[in-house]
Amino acid sequence: MLKSFVCRIIFLFHLFLVGSCHFPKSLELENITDVLKHLLDNYDIRLRPNFGGKPLFVGMDLHIASFDAISEVNMDYTLTLYLNQYWQDSRLAFSTHPYELTLSGEFAGKIWVPDTFFANDKNSFLHDVTEKNKMVRLQSDGEIKYGMRFTTTLACMMDLHYYPLDSQNCTLEIESYGYTVEDVQMYWKNEAVVGVDKAELSQFSILNFAATVREETLASGTYQRLSLSFLLKRNVGYFIFQTYLPCILIVMLSWVSFWINHEATSARVALGITTVLTMTTISTGVRSSLPRISYVKAIDIYLVMCFVFVFAALLEYAAVNYTYWGSTRAKMKAKKLKESKAATEVATNEEIIELQDVRVSPIPYLRRRNKASTYSSDAHFPPSFRRTRSYYSQGFNRKSQERSSLERHKKPYVLNSLKRGAHVLRASIPKIKDINKIDKMARIIFPVSFLLFNSIYWCFYVF
Ligand SMILES: *[C@@H]1O[C@H](CO)[C@@H](O)[C@H](O)[C@H]1NC(C)=O
Ligand SMILES: *[C@@H]1O[C@H](CO)[C@@H](O)[C@H](O)[C@H]1NC(C)=O
Repeated sequence: MLKSFVCRIIFLFHLFLVGSCHFPKSLELENITDVLKHLLDNYDIRLRPNFGGKPLFVGMDLHIASFDAISEVNMDYTLTLYLNQYWQDSRLAFSTHPYELTLSGEFAGKIWVPDTFFANDKNSFLHDVTEKNKMVRLQSDGEIKYGMRFTTTLACMMDLHYYPLDSQNCTLEIESYGYTVEDVQMYWKNEAVVGVDKAELSQFSILNFAATVREETLASGTYQRLSLSFLLKRNVGYFIFQTYLPCILIVMLSWVSFWINHEATSARVALGITTVLTMTTISTGVRSSLPRISYVKAIDIYLVMCFVFVFAALLEYAAVNYTYWGSTRAKMKAKKLKESKAATEVATNEEIIELQDVRVSPIPYLRRRNKASTYSSDAHFPPSFRRTRSYYSQGFNRKSQERSSLERHKKPYVLNSLKRGAHVLRASIPKIKDINKIDKMARIIFPVSFLLFNSIYWCFYVF
């Protein structure tokens, strides 16, 4: 008895619950076709909601689906996003009960929608697979949510002075194309921007973003403008491995030359020229991914300095080579001089042979001097030659008292001129006794100055 009574109560309670929740709704669904059929009767699509009255408030929020590309060459970036716009059109209210209708994008063509546009947009398209990515949600009180998904390429003027150690501030500007602040006022909804933290970019990290509102005064009136800005920090890792590290290694490679014997001309010249050409190749590669900007970028400074270092290493070898061959010539001359001196002292008849030897000397300067001294007067000698001549000739004469007067006249002549010539030659060569001195200095100066340059560069651009 009691059991059946409880059962009946529960049954009735169930019936009541089901009725209260679902009955009115299913009733409403019966007339929804009817509602939609008559919703747009006497609806003027050309007039904005609250026409002639208070400005219409249009709320915005967006969801970043992906950050697709950032191009330095075109100075733009590409985004795929979901944009939702919210406003109330009391002409579309259809019931006092809270109810929400989701309609296809086509319905948006039959009602008034805001003429929102992106002020810095270059190219955009709405996705239409499988249908146009648009939707309208209409609430029974006339509240509308109008959503769409599209890809847009937006202009972003970049300052590349610090490239590739730079940060960029790229914006997304939303504005009504025709309606001034008197007609339409836009605002950001709560949680205006979603999905920034999940956006993945290959070359940048998104450090920060900010959504702001401001009024923009143009020739045609004052408009409300919503602005979303992203602070993008370029990831330098790619450039470290692609540009900086190769540059450093090439510069270091050019230093190998300082440890190679200075007589190995072909090895050192080849090393120098190869490194210079490699630097040229690297800088060409870097330039191809950048617009033709006239100002100097951070990477330009690095590349140019690396080039200068590599070039200086090649020039260093030129200096080494020059001094080396200069001193070798001097040595050869000195040796020849000694030989000639011994020869003249031993035998008088060998004078002619000696003279011939002198004549084939590789140094034109000496050759000329000798000829002059042997065959003509000393009128062509510089004053210093003439001054010391008497001393030398006297000394020689004292030594070879027994020799004939003819000999006495001839011998000092040749000898003195040779001695003088050697002196002049020695004085004209830079006073580097050790040929490796330049190399020794370069081994220290080059790495130290490169290290110094690097520390200044990285301190300036990173901190
Ligand atoms: C269904 O439509 C009729 C007539 O249009 C209306 O009287 C009735 O209130 C509607 N029902 C609901 C639940 O809106
Ligand atoms: C980007 O620059 C604008 C204007 O200078 C500034 O208002 C905004 O805060 C910047 N954005 C970020 C994320 O710092």
